[in-house]
Amino acid sequence: MTDTLISRPISQPIVSRKSKALNGYPLIPGDKSISHRSIMLGALAIGETIVSGLLEGEDVLCTAMAMRAMGAKVTQGDDGLWRIHGVGVGGLHEPDCVLDMGNSGTSTRLLLGLVGGCDITATFTGDASLRKRPMKRVVTPLEMMGARFMCRSGDRLPLTVKGAREALGIEYHLPVASAQVKSAVMLAGLNAAGKTTVIEDRPTRDCTENMLRHFGVQVETEELEGGAFAISLNGHQELRGCAVDVPRDPSSAAFAAVAALIVEGSEITMSNIGVNSRRDGLFVTLKEMGADIRYENQRIEAGEKVASIKVTGNNVMKGVDVPEARVPSMIDEFPILAVAASCAQGTTRMTGLAELRVKESDRLLMMAEGLKACGVDLEMGEDSLTIHGTGKPPKGGARIETALDHRIAMSFLVLGCASDEPVEIDDGAPIATSFPNFIDLMNDLGADICEGE
Ligand code: S3P
Repeated sequence: MTDTLISRPISQPIVSRKSKALNGYPLIPGDKSISHRSIMLGALAIGETIVSGLLEGEDVLCTAMAMRAMGAKVTQGDDGLWRIHGVGVGGLHEPDCVLDMGNSGTSTRLLLGLVGGCDITATFTGDASLRKRPMKRVVTPLEMMGARFMCRSGDRLPLTVKGAREALGIEYHLPVASAQVKSAVMLAGLNAAGKTTVIEDRPTRDCTENMLRHFGVQVETEELEGGAFAISLNGHQELRGCAVDVPRDPSSAAFAAVAALIVEGSEITMSNIGVNSRRDGLFVTLKEMGADIRYENQRIEAGEKVASIKVTGNNVMKGVDVPEARVPSMIDEFPILAVAASCAQGTTRMTGLAELRVKESDRLLMMAEGLKACGVDLEMGEDSLTIHGTGKPPKGGARIETALDHRIAMSFLVLGCASDEPVEIDDGAPIATSFPNFIDLMNDLGADICEGE
């Protein structure tokens, strides 16, 4: 099926049947965004970086492979820790092969920033999903900094970037709320002359800024009028190798949480979940819907807010209007929110979702079509989704196309835990990009998810 190094030769259909109550203390895997950054920054640092709790999903392994190809030593020990010996800012080697980023938009866009700021040339490709995704959003600012690109039509992969001989810092106002674009520019700015500033009108996840500071880089964040932020750094600062303890991923915890909310009698507690306010919009929304979700033992670890999240699934949720300003803090969670909304009583309106059309799949379309096939009453707009829930799970009984999208796949398997008839997905293989043990973890809680036909 795919012609890239991350080979998934055959699709893996998976079926999810109505399950008994879900109970337990699932160990959610490490945060994907933070895992990528720990390897990238470790690879730029002087000295050793030791990472615990790294997400060993395909996307992060693509980042590790790319950083090795550019000269860093990245190894996994028998103790489960990852050790990285960096090459120093500006010290990246030119890779002598094409960098295959599999399904990973984050690896691709952030690494384009890293390479764009260095005097090397690299060619990137990816799987059929990644090769459809727009790269213009990072090409534009990186060209302003001095990088040059040769891309396929529509600024898509495969593409070759010739990094700037002497990159120049810029001030860049993000045209879309995107942490990936912000991060690409900041990472290029690390090896640029002068100051690089990114202005974002709506706050997006700040794990790049937080981790740069953790590695000893001075990064300023200034709140501007109207809720905008300016993030600045001066180029040519040194990163120092350090210890990184990766929190567990709130975007992965979201699937188990919604499963517990829609399967009656469930109760689960997930420890050490990242609950940075720029990431936890789904949990805020579910609470507004009436869900019983509690943060316990809140604390700061390695610069990130973490908590145990206890979810009890005993009351019917109500439909809500999701404020547009909240979208960036739950950008990856709309597929699973749509599942929760389908089981809630009343109408849930989600607007300002244009970015969902350019994720691993067109998530608006994939959710709308899949949910309709499961019996949900909904309307899809250009950038909106309105779901009319009945207060109980939809009937299910459909085979869902997932278009190489891990979050579409997991969302429908969660729906199948509550619907009367089974829900089958056409291909569960992409789940390994972000949540390799998803099926075992869900089944340990009490779900009934197994191979389909
Ligand atoms: C990510 C940022 C988000 C998110 C993606 C991970 C990151 O993308 O959808 O899964 O790690 O920076 P955008 O920044 O493009 O919205």
